[in-house]
Amino acid sequence: MNMNPPLLELHNISYSYPGQKNPLLKEINFHVHKEQIGIIGPNGSGKTTLFQIIMGLLKADDGQIVLQGTEIKTEKDFFMLRRKLGFLFQDSDDQLFSPTVLEDIAFGPLNHGATPQEARDISIRTLEKLGLKGFEDRITHRLSGGEKKLVALATILSMEPEMLLLDEPSNNLDPATRERLIKILREQKLAHIIISHDLDFLASTCNQLYTMQDGQLIRCEEKQIHNHEHIHPYGNQPHLHGI
Ligand SMILES: Nc1ncnc2c1ncn2[C@@H]1O[C@H](COP(=O)(O)OP(=O)(O)OP(=O)(O)O)[C@@H](O)[C@H]1O
Ligand SMILES: [Mg+2]
Repeated sequence: MNMNPPLLELHNISYSYPGQKNPLLKEINFHVHKEQIGIIGPNGSGKTTLFQIIMGLLKADDGQIVLQGTEIKTEKDFFMLRRKLGFLFQDSDDQLFSPTVLEDIAFGPLNHGATPQEARDISIRTLEKLGLKGFEDRITHRLSGGEKKLVALATILSMEPEMLLLDEPSNNLDPATRERLIKILREQKLAHIIISHDLDFLASTCNQLYTMQDGQLIRCEEKQIHNHEHIHPYGNQPHLHGI
């Protein structure tokens, strides 16, 4: 039995956007110790909204967020939470704001007190880990969609968070890059919550699966995430499977 408090707990989190008649999120309860969790669910079901609430970008109408046993209420609490949880936005353009890749990745470590040289070294190491060696001086807004996704991920990993919240991390990635990301996520063994429509990606990176439906997060107890072999036309081409 795990005697430490969970890394993250949600208690009865409810939320409606202004003007919505029915709540989008209805009394969501959930906790994570060190698990690697996947969330699937239809478009518009509230997955991204839930991440935004956890990160303090939206305020829940009701309920509590608890990080390592401490309730998170004030902006100062959320500041502390954001140092521990690395959040990858669904849209990388919301995440990247510096002129060059190096400046974007070094921003976090610099903010956390690293010297410019240390921040540069961390940034270069992180880029290499993600297969982006030599990207330091590239202009961020001119990167391709997949490159932006990886650079956005680098901005998070360079801050060495305790847990990752990744909103559709495999979108826009080519098959080889997607495999590299799977390998990285498996190797670093960090707790994470990944939102994705790519069930095979979740199967490769998560040990628990939840679905978001009708405003609730429902644990998929009866189905174990598993890899399987299968046969169909063009199976020798890189491909994804629907849910
Ligand atoms: N700022 C907003 N104001 C009003 N409604 C919003 C706002 N942002 C999102 N919504 C609505 O809330 C619902 C949930 O959106 P959300 O982005 O959380 O869904 P999602 O599950 O992440 O979907 P997807 O799989 O398409 O990314 C959608 O119907 C969306 O249109
Ligand atoms: Mg979303």
